[in-house]
Amino acid sequence: THIDWDVNAAEKGGYEHFMLKEMYEQPKAIMDTFSPRLKNGNIVIEELGMSEEDIRSIRKIMIVACGSAYHTGMTSKYVFEGLARIPVEVDLASEFRYRNPILDEGTLLIVVSQSGETADTLAALREAKDKGVRVLGIVNVVGSSIAREADNVMYTWAGPEIAVATTKAYSAQLISLYLLAMKFAHVRGELSDKGLADMIEELKELPTQVEMLLNNKNKIQKFANRYLAAKSIFFIGRGIDYAISLEGSLKLKEVSYIHSEAYAAGELKHGTISLIEEGTLVCSVLTQEELYKKTISNMVEVKTRGAFVMAVTNVDNTEVEKAADYVIYLPKTNKYFTNSLAIIPLQLFGYYVAVGRGCDVDKPRNLAKSVTVE
Ligand code: AGP
Repeated sequence: THIDWDVNAAEKGGYEHFMLKEMYEQPKAIMDTFSPRLKNGNIVIEELGMSEEDIRSIRKIMIVACGSAYHTGMTSKYVFEGLARIPVEVDLASEFRYRNPILDEGTLLIVVSQSGETADTLAALREAKDKGVRVLGIVNVVGSSIAREADNVMYTWAGPEIAVATTKAYSAQLISLYLLAMKFAHVRGELSDKGLADMIEELKELPTQVEMLLNNKNKIQKFANRYLAAKSIFFIGRGIDYAISLEGSLKLKEVSYIHSEAYAAGELKHGTISLIEEGTLVCSVLTQEELYKKTISNMVEVKTRGAFVMAVTNVDNTEVEKAADYVIYLPKTNKYFTNSLAIIPLQLFGYYVAVGRGCDVDKPRNLAKSVTVE
């Protein structure tokens, strides 16, 4: 007998694309990244190489990265500042290296990279090291250049990522940054033992919650199929939700080739709202309770001008239905962890728009998995 053995299909483990397979690996990537660092109700990051005294002496954190990794930096700025009360600057690596940044011994520089080979991120790391600043790498590929050159490396245990559009590495990066922020906040006395214990419990819920959201894929595919011919799609949000919007928009544009932009919701009326036409899709993200009302008022503004408004929000925010035409609800988690959940439907949306348009999802045109040139 002759058995047809499609090697490609086997590598994809039965999934149509690596991107879909890797989205489904997110619960495991998240778990594998936090599990080894939770010990007896505490966060232990040995590879950090920093004593409690070192952690207490941090005056400023700078996070430098490109693309999606940069977006994890944007999210974690809110987490480090809100939780640990440490000022954070986030820079695109290609900007950081040419702007003569002010770095001193109180600065901790964090570079985030899936491949560990991104040219601009590596150059930023070298620049900081030349200036005597401690560099921590958050890296997925073991033994990569950034992993070798950083003073310390905290690996994201997402496993090999093949699709050009990152999903599971992004999710694992977020977890590493949450762990660091929680650890720093606890050591610096900004987070109580009880506060830490509660957050650890919420962290442990994330894999199951992500899985639940992934199981909605058919509903999202149906919704995505309505937008295969869209000219432009917008994403809006405030605070962490703005960072999530940036990533949702990048996922969509890189794989589907549909023009998309993300805006801080409050910025809309400073120009962008003129782009809204009858039927334009505006995806709004609302996961921060104190900002619900503000973003809802922006949703009303675009809806009045003809937009079709989709919302990704927490399960308790039914208010949103007043302003949204289509709602995706997220299970409850800590307000600092919402990116890990809200990004799932947005990844699925980008993926299914691309599939529906017949795009080469795993290898989008003009893009490379690892950008080793400037
Ligand atoms: C994300 O989907 C992109 N393909 C891209 O923005 C990527 O995140 C960026 O090039 C950074 O890569 P790195 O994490 O390997 O440094």
